[in-house]
Amino acid sequence: MGRGGRARLAALLAAAVLLLWAWGRRVPGTPPARTPGDPLEGRSLPLIFIGGVPRSGTTLMRAMLDAHPEVRCGQETRVVPRILQMRQHWMRSPKESLRLEQAGVSKTVLDNAIAAFCLEVIVGHGEPASRLCNKDPLVLKMGTYVLELFPNAKFLFMVRDGRATVHSIITRKVTITGFDLTSYRQCLTKWNHAVELMYHQCKSLGPSRCLLVRYESLVLSPEPTLRRVLSFLELPWDEAVLHHERYINQPNGVALSNVERSSDQVVRPVNLDALDKWVGQIPADVRADMAELAPMLSVLGYDPWANPPRYADGPDVSLDRSPDRSPARSLVVSESLGPNSP
Ligand code: A3P
Repeated sequence: MGRGGRARLAALLAAAVLLLWAWGRRVPGTPPARTPGDPLEGRSLPLIFIGGVPRSGTTLMRAMLDAHPEVRCGQETRVVPRILQMRQHWMRSPKESLRLEQAGVSKTVLDNAIAAFCLEVIVGHGEPASRLCNKDPLVLKMGTYVLELFPNAKFLFMVRDGRATVHSIITRKVTITGFDLTSYRQCLTKWNHAVELMYHQCKSLGPSRCLLVRYESLVLSPEPTLRRVLSFLELPWDEAVLHHERYINQPNGVALSNVERSSDQVVRPVNLDALDKWVGQIPADVRADMAELAPMLSVLGYDPWANPPRYADGPDVSLDRSPDRSPARSLVVSESLGPNSP
């Protein structure tokens, strides 16, 4: 190309850049043009949601991920599950649903608005990171709806022996709506109900979207369990996840809240102290009815008659088991709800 040709090409390129710049420019103060129903920017982010019944090791899991250089979870937002619950109430009431529809608040409008609210909170409540994560344990109750909002999201379902979870709730006086802190029997029934709901949500999300992670596996075999978790999340292995305690309240590390009930436990390195603290603490009459009170124990592979079960061995658990056809089995270290499970 001659000198004249090169000059013409340069002029053309400059004109194209100018045109693109002018195209992208808006009058200051005017919002970007958006047609109702346009998908909201950000809904395709590969968000990570950590859920489970509270006191199942959800904070430990998120602290370990926070230690990963590519991930930021942060403290519980508390408002994300609330907006999701609010929407659930609206949808459950035929009268309210009709009113919304009549008012032009269609499913698309509402979904975009709720997704925008969740995104704003998840993005804004902590430091930036290439993979953002949310740990509000009860969000998993609405997992399938969350996947509608964020189709590339992945979910970690933290599961722990219900007797340990309930003992933790009662002894640490953790208030959870519906749980009567004076009764092991009532709390075990509530645990069963909540974990069953999440189990079915996880199952509906499917193995490529939801991974069951046992608290017992996490503390007994952190490295293999975390390798499995990172591979499921399509994140590279990083040794930092094995030493979350080194990154507490460090920049881009593990931000802790002064008011969350697990903060004083999660500052410590992974330990086995909480594994069987519940043994000998549950009233005999409740122990005698354990299999009926909490059938999900067996479904999840925890022997309801063993006090405690052998946490370090046993077969895998499948998402296809239901309470009525589930013989008691001892507990496992590995999980079978991962990407390759049926
Ligand atoms: P206990 O109350 O039985 O001690 P969550 O964060 O989901 O509420 O779970 C809290 C449980 O996780 C607590 O159980 C706590 O001990 C346990 N946990 C937190 N940090 C831990 C750590 N570093 N090692 C082992 N368990 C930990």
